[in-house]
Amino acid sequence: MNVEELKDIYQKQNDVLSKYKHRILICGGASCHSLGSVSFKKIVEDVLAKYDLKDSVAVVNVGCLGLCGKGPLVKIEPEGIIYTNVSVENVADIVERHFVKRTPREDGVMRADDPFYRKQFYIVLKDFSNVDPADLNSYIAFGGYTALAKSLLEMSRQDVIEEVKKSGLRGRGGAGFPTGIKWETVSKQPSETKFVVCNGDEGDPGAFMDRSVMESMPHRLLEGMTIAAYAVGASQGFIYVRAEYPLAIERLSKAIRDARRAGLLGTNIMGTNFSFDISIRVGAGAFVCGEETALLASIEGKRGMPRQRPPFPAEKGLWGYPTLINNVETYANIYAIINNGGDWFASIGTQKSKGTKVFALAGKINNTGLVEVPMGVTIREMIYEIGGGIQGGKKFKAVQTGGPSGGCIPEKFIDLPVDYESLREVGSIMGSGGFIVMDENTCMVDVAKFFMEFCADESCGKCIPCRVGTVIMKDILQKITDGRATMRDYQNLKDLAYMVREMSLCGLGQTAPNPVLSSIMYFEEEYLAHINERRCIANVCEVKQFDVVNTYL
Ligand SMILES: Cc1cc2nc3c(=O)[nH]c(=O)nc-3n(C[C@H](O)[C@H](O)[C@H](O)COP(=O)(O)O)c2cc1C
Ligand code: SF4
Ligand code: FES
Repeated sequence: MNVEELKDIYQKQNDVLSKYKHRILICGGASCHSLGSVSFKKIVEDVLAKYDLKDSVAVVNVGCLGLCGKGPLVKIEPEGIIYTNVSVENVADIVERHFVKRTPREDGVMRADDPFYRKQFYIVLKDFSNVDPADLNSYIAFGGYTALAKSLLEMSRQDVIEEVKKSGLRGRGGAGFPTGIKWETVSKQPSETKFVVCNGDEGDPGAFMDRSVMESMPHRLLEGMTIAAYAVGASQGFIYVRAEYPLAIERLSKAIRDARRAGLLGTNIMGTNFSFDISIRVGAGAFVCGEETALLASIEGKRGMPRQRPPFPAEKGLWGYPTLINNVETYANIYAIINNGGDWFASIGTQKSKGTKVFALAGKINNTGLVEVPMGVTIREMIYEIGGGIQGGKKFKAVQTGGPSGGCIPEKFIDLPVDYESLREVGSIMGSGGFIVMDENTCMVDVAKFFMEFCADESCGKCIPCRVGTVIMKDILQKITDGRATMRDYQNLKDLAYMVREMSLCGLGQTAPNPVLSSIMYFEEEYLAHINERRCIANVCEVKQFDVVNTYL
């Protein structure tokens, strides 16, 4: 496909779209899909055929509509009405009432101008509600692959890198490293062979941002990776995705096949002399395989274990060759930076955290799901406007950001802006986008125990501080929540937290103590109540009245 053909498809698709008065958009994200939305299209089309409405109402399977906790969702355009909790049993009735009987269902309806949507700003999630993830032409109809065309035909490799540098984009996989600088480092390596890798491992418990991008807009990821490959001079790419994401694998596989067939991957892309192809590598679902050096080892067919850095993958990555590794969301921002310019991107967000961030809103909040906000929105806006407040009108206690590597932020910081620097200042991190809201009935020791159990289970065992330290910390936390701990155990827990943090080889061990340290910093009274009063303030733990003697375990 050359640029003329791309424009032609764009025009034809938009001509077809403009013939319909309405569009029924069925959420095809994993959550709605697994709750039955996969069967809606046929049912809806039968209703439309029955009432002779097929020529005026289009039916499209689209990506995640965001409000996953209330799915399956069906959106009707141009009305901007979103029906929640739709089922195989009621979808025909909803369509009949909306289009034929003109008595639309009123319960479980949300408007597109609800604060949940209004407060968001879409770059990564843009057009999730318009594009059919399984249809390349549908992606092109909403501007897909124009950024690739612009990069290949109008920009030099260095121009692309300069634009990404100007944008201020920082890696969305957790560490927040400047993307343009990483691209430049790889581009400058004197090697004929280079690789581009996408980290789609997403192992944080409760996180589903990257999965949603891969499922809802696979071509956006392919486009970002192909632009990256052009910029750094790579000819082969890999997407590493866990086997627990079968829908993402299915849609990515189809997108890769379709892009190859259309000449958007493979040799002489868009008629230029640039060639690049992408393969998928399926991981077994180990959290540590999200760490970049472990991920690269896994792609090479070795056991997924981190190694010492330097050398960094940008210098010595896959099979010893320079390798660019970025997160799914990082690549999904690239199309917009190329199309709108780095300055445009840099104008969104805060001084040091540019652009937007996608979060998986979860926990004791009314609107759980997938959201994208400009960097710098406050925790209050996230919880009370986008999130619709705490379930049951309960009191907000804390929010956990950054998953197992992050920390718990208490209520007193509710007006804190959500950006890389502010979160770090209060002892947490942005991480990859977990945002778990907790109410007054949450025990913070129990939360810390949950994350420590996770890290102890997921430790690869290569280095002793992490392999042994996380298990002992987990056991001490168990003693505390059981009511068997002494102040000596508590001191051991704190000593171990610093030791594991300082002496572990990779980020897993170095950050594993964070949930414990931040909960001690802000909720120490809860630890002390378990230990000294044999009482769980939140009434979550079954604290027993043991007669305790001082022991290490
Ligand atoms: C234990 C551990 C798990 C990680 N898991 C992920 C992950 O699932 N996805 C991801 O993109 N980065 C993950 N990272 C960060 C990667 O090592 C790496 O920094 C990232 O993929 C770089 O891409 P970015 O610059 O676009 O963020 C993890 C790091 C550690 C230490
Ligand atoms: S810190 Fe933990 S996960 Fe990382 S290498 Fe050491 S044992 Fe493995
Ligand atoms: S999967 Fe349907 S709203 Fe997210």
